Amino acid sequence: MQNIRKITEDVFYVGASDRRLALFENIYPIERGVSYNSYVVLDEKTVLLDTADHSVSREFLENVEAALSGRDLDYLVVNHMEPDHCSVIAEIVLRYPDVKIVGNQKTMQMIKQFYTFDVDSRAHVVKDGDTLTTGKHTFAFVFAPMVHWPEVMVTFDTSNGFLFSADAFGTFGALAGNIYADEVEFEKEWLDDARRYYINIVGKYGVQVVNTLKKAASLPIKMILPLHGPIWRENIGWFISKYQTWATYVSEEKGLLMVYSSIYGDTANAVDVLAAKCAEKGVKNIHIYDASKTDCSVLVSECFRYSTIVFASPTYNAEIFPKMEMLLTELKAHAFQNRDAAVIENGTWALSAGKKMSEMLASMKDIRVIAPVLSIKSSLKDEQMGDVEALADALKKSVEA
Ligand SMILES: Cc1cc2nc3c(=O)[nH]c(=O)nc-3n(C[C@H](O)[C@H](O)[C@H](O)COP(=O)(O)O)c2cc1C
Ligand SMILES: [Fe+2]
Ligand SMILES: [Fe+2]
Repeated sequence: MQNIRKITEDVFYVGASDRRLALFENIYPIERGVSYNSYVVLDEKTVLLDTADHSVSREFLENVEAALSGRDLDYLVVNHMEPDHCSVIAEIVLRYPDVKIVGNQKTMQMIKQFYTFDVDSRAHVVKDGDTLTTGKHTFAFVFAPMVHWPEVMVTFDTSNGFLFSADAFGTFGALAGNIYADEVEFEKEWLDDARRYYINIVGKYGVQVVNTLKKAASLPIKMILPLHGPIWRENIGWFISKYQTWATYVSEEKGLLMVYSSIYGDTANAVDVLAAKCAEKGVKNIHIYDASKTDCSVLVSECFRYSTIVFASPTYNAEIFPKMEMLLTELKAHAFQNRDAAVIENGTWALSAGKKMSEMLASMKDIRVIAPVLSIKSSLKDEQMGDVEALADALKKSVEA
């Protein structure tokens, strides 16, 4: 059964949600599922903006057919060639063989890499800033390279101010009837997933995101229609400002994040003792995570969120405990920068985790280590409480700066 949604008289939502997939990109857990959004515009010419993931292809194809209500498809705009959005392109071409595919040079190259159908005879190649008029609607194509992949562009409908923003402004989370952000408790129920999506998917490309935000600032945007998650028609500035914060590597909140690894519990205990000391000194907004229990994508996202971070790990076969090492590796891979940090190490015979963690933090940009490494030999001892107090003071100063 088709399940299309009318956005305006001539713009339709034809996407669908997947609540079954465990791991997005086969790496990010998505407890709340994910939606693959796609849009049809009915003008003198008909337009489909992006396709969907193969997992929802049956509903998607029914939706496209229903939205077109018997008409042929004239244009398929491909804003992004990642398979979560392009995996139904060949099927669209089979069903609508006269369709013109709108994309840039890189898009066409990628379509040819993924598929074997005749691309050249259908290609409508656009350059940055080019427009396409389909009757009442004029679409402007704005390149947004690396706002996930190099071929990415966003499409601005100048007739109604709709920005088809590709992966930008998307989020994990399946849709549940409501397709607009103002119809759900976005800040309470969606923001954590939106942050985790942004940081993990495009967090590395802050500079490119800022460039795209600059281009977007000059457009009279009335609605943002992303490829994942709800559509924005109210409070757009609030969500754009979140992107501005994340893309510029500024912390979103003053707060203390403590992430530890611990095999038998003594490193965890040291972190709890330190957190209590910080709380006694008046520090608020303290969060503790076990890196073995919480998925790395959540930890990376939380590191981007808070101003001050403690990393604690036992020495493990002369290395950092693997889950902590993975977090630090992932932070570096996502260009994590501009934070205050402190390190706690543990070990029973030859401690080396602290030095190695410090080296990894030093290899990232502008990570300010605000205290000497707190070294624990097997378990925290009374005589170390002076050091713990000093560390708590440094953390308080950082959080309250
Ligand atoms: C598999 C394994 C490898 C370890 N390798 C080292 C090591 O190379 N150097 C060291 O000083 N301690 C090593 N340790 C000891 C732990 O770092 C130490 O017992 C620490 O106190 C554990 O902290 P926890 O109670 O938070 O798990 C190792 C422990 C395990 C289980
Ligand atoms: Fe993508
Ligand atoms: Fe995507």
